[in-house]
Formats: sequence, structure tokens, C-alpha cells
Amino acid sequence: MRRGMPVESTPSILFVCLGNICRSPMAEGALRGRAAAAGLDLVIDSAGTGDWHVGRPPDPRAIATALLHGVEIGGYRARQVQAEDFHRFHHIFALDHSNLTDLKRIAPAGGRAALSLLLDMVQGRAGQAVADPYYGEAEAFERSWAEVDEAARAILGRLF
Ligand code: 4NP
Repeated sequence: MRRGMPVESTPSILFVCLGNICRSPMAEGALRGRAAAAGLDLVIDSAGTGDWHVGRPPDPRAIATALLHGVEIGGYRARQVQAEDFHRFHHIFALDHSNLTDLKRIAPAGGRAALSLLLDMVQGRAGQAVADPYYGEAEAFERSWAEVDEAARAILGRLF
């Protein structure tokens, strides 16, 4: 699996939150973990709509939460989403409604990516957001992990 190097024939998925240090790297890690366990080749990446944390690793609480679930995300580095991502990825998943609004604003004409809320993939959760755990406690990160991992499971179920 490659990070950030989508190939035409391989399904490619981008997760987008605000800072790219909490929710979207956890979503990336959850899907990478599940795809690897299933032996599936996917291009998986994450990005933020904001640029405050570009180049930085995920929040230590996100790293710790992922590790509790057996997934190493400490090597990820934040980047800002680009209009070009709509040409590079098949699916772009927004973690919350404001991420979705921001993504619609930068979406270029002719972009191929299917854009939706991440929890639209989960039965009974359509239209809902993965709450931002940044100002919360460790439990908030655990809740976020459970949500993005459930979504990762649903994505694999739908794609394969
Ligand atoms: P994320 O969380 O969007 O899940 O990565 C946040 C990280 C940083 C900030 C906000 C949300 N921030 O304001 O710096």
C-alpha cells in the first residue's frame, strides 16, 4: 500500500477533517489496518482543510488511541487538502459537515472523486458527523476511533 500516491486501477480513498492530526489520521489508520488484515490493496491518505498543522505528526492522543487498537500512525504527517485531490482520489470522505462544506467550495469542475460524509457509509448514521475530539478527553478519542473504525469496516464491505 502506498501513502499519497494513487494509481488509476487501485481504489483510492482520502479522509478529510479540519487539522489532519486527530480524526482523519485515525480514519486513515483504521482503514489501513483493516485493509492490510484483509490483504486488500488500496490507496489511502488523509488531509486537513486547514493548514495550521501541516508537516506535523498526529496528536499524541490520536497516536495513543490508534496504538491501543494495534495501529501505528505516528509516522503520518499532516497536509492540507488540494483541489487536485479531487482528480487523484476515487472517494473523499469528510469527517464533519463543515469539512464537507469546505470541500465542496474547493472542488474543481470535472473532479472524479465521490464526496460524502464518512458516516454516510455506516447504516443508521447517515448525515451524522464524527465529533472533533481535539478539545475533549481521552474518551473522546476512543469514541472517534470507534466511529472511524466502523466506517472503515463499512467502506471495505461496500468496495469489496
Ligand atoms: P482534527 O482535529 O480536525 O480531527 O484533526 C483538530 C485539530 C486541530 C484543531 C482543530 C481540530 N485546531 O484548531 O488546531
